[in-house]
Amino acid sequence: LPYFTTVEGLTNEEVHALIERAEEFKHGEPSPKLDEPVYVTNMFFENSTRTHNSFAMAERKLGLQEITFDAGHSSVSKGESMYDTCLTMSAIGVNLAVIRDRANDYYRQLTTERPANSQLDIGIVNAGDGSGQHPSQCLLDMMTIHEQFGHFDGLKVAIVGDITNSRVAKSNMQLLHRLGAQIYFAGPEYWFSHEFDAYGQYVQLDDILDQLDVLMLLRVQHERHDDQTEAQFDVQAYCDQYGINQARYDRLPDQAIICHPGPINRDVEIVSELVEAPKSFFYQQMQNGVFMRMAMLEAVMRGRHLGGLA
Ligand code: CP
Repeated sequence: LPYFTTVEGLTNEEVHALIERAEEFKHGEPSPKLDEPVYVTNMFFENSTRTHNSFAMAERKLGLQEITFDAGHSSVSKGESMYDTCLTMSAIGVNLAVIRDRANDYYRQLTTERPANSQLDIGIVNAGDGSGQHPSQCLLDMMTIHEQFGHFDGLKVAIVGDITNSRVAKSNMQLLHRLGAQIYFAGPEYWFSHEFDAYGQYVQLDDILDQLDVLMLLRVQHERHDDQTEAQFDVQAYCDQYGINQARYDRLPDQAIICHPGPINRDVEIVSELVEAPKSFFYQQMQNGVFMRMAMLEAVMRGRHLGGLA
């Protein structure tokens, strides 16, 4: 029962191997021949455009057979649990489940904490758990950064915005810190927690812009905010202090890149005219996602646990 659920347990060697493999796929390396059909299902209990379709494309390119799962029309609407839904998919012969859910750590019940007598026999790939982890987004970000700079050591990376609520920020701060990048955090203080001090330093964005290699913008995630946070949030103040406008864009070094996991709130995190500007690497991130997800799925198909919690 292989799984790929977090980036916490990934070794640096595994990260570099995944990037190398994703690069091979990107440069036309054919996917390995499968000895027998491999069936995969994409179970998205939270909405998605990029991750869902990028996994679907990666699966097609690898020659996997997708069994469609539509959360809204599934028996989850009758109260069936995630565990029992996965047990059903396993019983009908599905080999791999790519899952996104709003609950942090949902994957533990399917992997390290499943019942001792569990008959579950299905590989699990985490496509995002609440505000916990987003391994595939993180690794496609690492691939995009590596393509631009060729290394991580000493890179200055700012993670900006709704950090507390962002699974992308959690995965990226953990991995970038371990790979030797210097991390800065910026954004409203109510979206910063001292838990993040272990990974980087809280700063004012305008104090560091001209030193940055990577400016990592986060989406303002209204769907995860409680009433108090929504009441505190002032979109104009956010744009004024943290929004990437032409003046802030121009202060970034020429080789710097701006990343955003998407979907973008245009004219909030960045002004609309700069979404496809040369330093904005959002399109490259989305392109790279397909190849990185091919590499991740291949690793799981080879029976390797990656990033699982002990
Ligand atoms: N980056 C990301 O997870 O986007 P989606 O929510 O569209 O999958």
